[in-house]
This record gives sequence, C-alpha cells and structure tokens, in this order.
Amino acid sequence: MTSDKPAVLGGIPIFSDLVPIIQPTLPSLSDLEEDILEIFASRMITNHKFVQQLEKKLEEYLGVRNVIGISNCTTGLMLLGRSLYLEGEVITPSFSFSATSLAIIWLGLKPIYADCDPIKFTIDPEKVKEKITAKSSAILATHIFGNPCDIAALEEIAEDHKLKLFFDSAHGAGSIYKGKRIGNFGDGESFSMSPTKVLTAGEGGFVATNDDKIAENIRIGRNYANPGDYNTSFIGLSGRMAEFNAILALRSLSMLEENVLNRQKLVAHYKKRLSKLPGITFQEIEQDSRSSYKDFAIQINPKEFELSRDKLYDALEAENVMTKKYFFPAIHQQSAFKPYLAGQDLKLENTIELANNTLCLPIYSHMEISLVDKICDAIERIYNYRSQF
Ligand SMILES: Cc1ncc(COP(=O)(O)O)c(C=O)c1O
Repeated sequence: MTSDKPAVLGGIPIFSDLVPIIQPTLPSLSDLEEDILEIFASRMITNHKFVQQLEKKLEEYLGVRNVIGISNCTTGLMLLGRSLYLEGEVITPSFSFSATSLAIIWLGLKPIYADCDPIKFTIDPEKVKEKITAKSSAILATHIFGNPCDIAALEEIAEDHKLKLFFDSAHGAGSIYKGKRIGNFGDGESFSMSPTKVLTAGEGGFVATNDDKIAENIRIGRNYANPGDYNTSFIGLSGRMAEFNAILALRSLSMLEENVLNRQKLVAHYKKRLSKLPGITFQEIEQDSRSSYKDFAIQINPKEFELSRDKLYDALEAENVMTKKYFFPAIHQQSAFKPYLAGQDLKLENTIELANNTLCLPIYSHMEISLVDKICDAIERIYNYRSQF
C-alpha cells in the first residue's frame, strides 16, 4: 500500500502540518497585563523592579548567593570570563554551541578543545587533563542539552592546577547535579533565557555565582562598567535585561519545575518507544542528577540502524517533523574557528562521532504524549523501509 510508505518514498506524510522542534511555553497574556501596565505607568523599562524580583526569585530557586540578570548567556560568559582575569588558554568542548567558544575569543583568549564523553556528551575530565599547559587559565564546560557535566572531577582538576572553572549553563535551568541545582558550581555559571530554553524571557540570561566579588563585577560590568559616577572602572559592556523580558521570565520560572517534570515524562516515553529499534541510544544522565532536557537527543549508530542520521533527518523532514543536528558541525570544524586551531591536537574522536550521529527530536514543555507517539510512529515507519532509501 502506497500510504504505508514513508513520505520520502512517496507516501503521505504522517503530519499534515509541521511539528516544530521546540515551542516556548508561554503564560496567558492576561497574566502579564498587570505588570505591563505597571511598567508603562512607572516608565522604568529596563533593569529595574522586575529584573530585581527575578534575580531574587532565581537566587531562592537555585539556592545560590547571587544572580545577575543580563541580556543573554553569551554576554554572561564574557562578563564572567572578564571577572576571572583570565589569560592565555581556556579548555572547552568542541561539542557545544558556537557561543561557548565565541565568548572565549571575544575575551582575547584561545579555546583549546578537549574531547567529550561518548555517552554523557559532556567534556571528559580525563581529556581536559591532557590539554593543560603552562598557558591554561580556565576550564569552560557546557551542560550539554541540560545534562550536568562531571562537575566533581572538573572541580578537582581546577583546584589541582589552579585553574578557574566556569560553566556555559545555557541549557541548565532546572538541571540538578548530585542533589544541588545547576547554578551553584565553579566560579560562576551563565544561563540563557532565549526562546528555545525551558526557562525563557523571550531574550535574556543570567549569571549565578556564590562569589560576591564576581557578582559585583558582573553587576557593574553589564552596565558598561559604570559604577554610578561615569568613571568607567574596567572594560565592561552593554548587557542589561529589559523589564518586559523579566516579567516573562518570572512567569516562566513559576512553571519551571512542572515543565521540567513534564519533560522527564516525555523523554521516558520517547525512550520506551525508541529503545525497541536497533542502533538508537540516548544520552546518559547520572542517577543522582537531573537533566532539564532542554533538548532530547538520540544517537544513531548507522550500521545497526542501517540508516544514517542525515537520512533519518531528511526522512523526518518529509514527514513534517522538524529535527536538529545539534551540534553539527562541531565548533572546531566551523570556518570562523579555523585560525584558532594552530598547534592543537584535534583527535576529538567522540566529538566527531557525536556531531555526525546525534539528532535532537521535538520536545517542549506543553507537548502531549500522543505527539511523542506519532513522531515515534514516523521513525518506525522510516526504519521499516530503510532498505529502500
Ligand atoms: C550551549 C549554548 N551556549 C550559549 C548559547 C547562547 O545563548 P544566548 O543566545 O542567550 O546568548 C546557546 C544558545 O542556544 C547555547 O546553546
């Protein structure tokens, strides 16, 4: 029967409308109305009451001493790096979003790439050790897709080698490492609240740190490093958060726990369905940790699945299911980073394997289990016809 065939082979697509890879989970407009009116009445439209309220609520939620609201995570990484007085080289993953390395380079530092763990997808502490030189000043690690890094091992390395340790926690809101919320680790962590994140402000971010001095630096730094008297005290930047973004983030924060728990259910269902197919594996989350599941990633073993990740991507696109090849190409494979690779050992086998074989499937906080089922039906149908591709 023609209609049984995957769309890519001429069958009818399982979805008549496009299934997006993510959708922000938004409060009702009426829920925001009172605060919007207050912002208009006060005419204080940036870095004011609601930003301060958000910072306080986040400090309580994370159990951290300081949260500083900023315009985005990349700016936070730059401000954090600036506050740590880094020099020379920063050891970092190549299996991450470009912004992790962009921040390092904007700081005038050199990113040195260490391979990642093939199952957890996060930077491998043993590989970090191999990259330490006299020029190393810090480790910048990413909690990939919300999965906390091997933080204890990274902390030990940082301490032994007198390196600073900070985190790209763009995906980390709602994640937990050994019973403690992400946001409490290293010298500081920078979070994103862009539209694709579980906790969203529309656009925005924040830095969390237990170090009061670093916090003060970032608070001044986000405002051109103007301490109040226009006598610029260091090289800061313009990185404040607007009040409108803060009210959206406050609503998003009040839904965060519920949203992360719903994502756990969605992922459990995806895993139950997809583990029946050979050649599909999942990112491993440690028992006493929790991923925010900002993304749900599957890894395709092309030999066992008998279809490559790229073929699956194309076939799902024909079924009207949007997926993402995060993070392909890996950072060190991208054009802009080529000038920074000289002299580096780039045998990043796990990174390349993950970049070539990982596919992120649709997930968002208000997604229904029935949608997961239908996406899995599409994957099964594609798999059943694999020999014809
Ligand atoms: C790992 C990672 N780091 C940094 C960023 C940049 O975040 P922002 O847009 O808030 O600067 C992203 C964006 O998705 C990301 O995925």
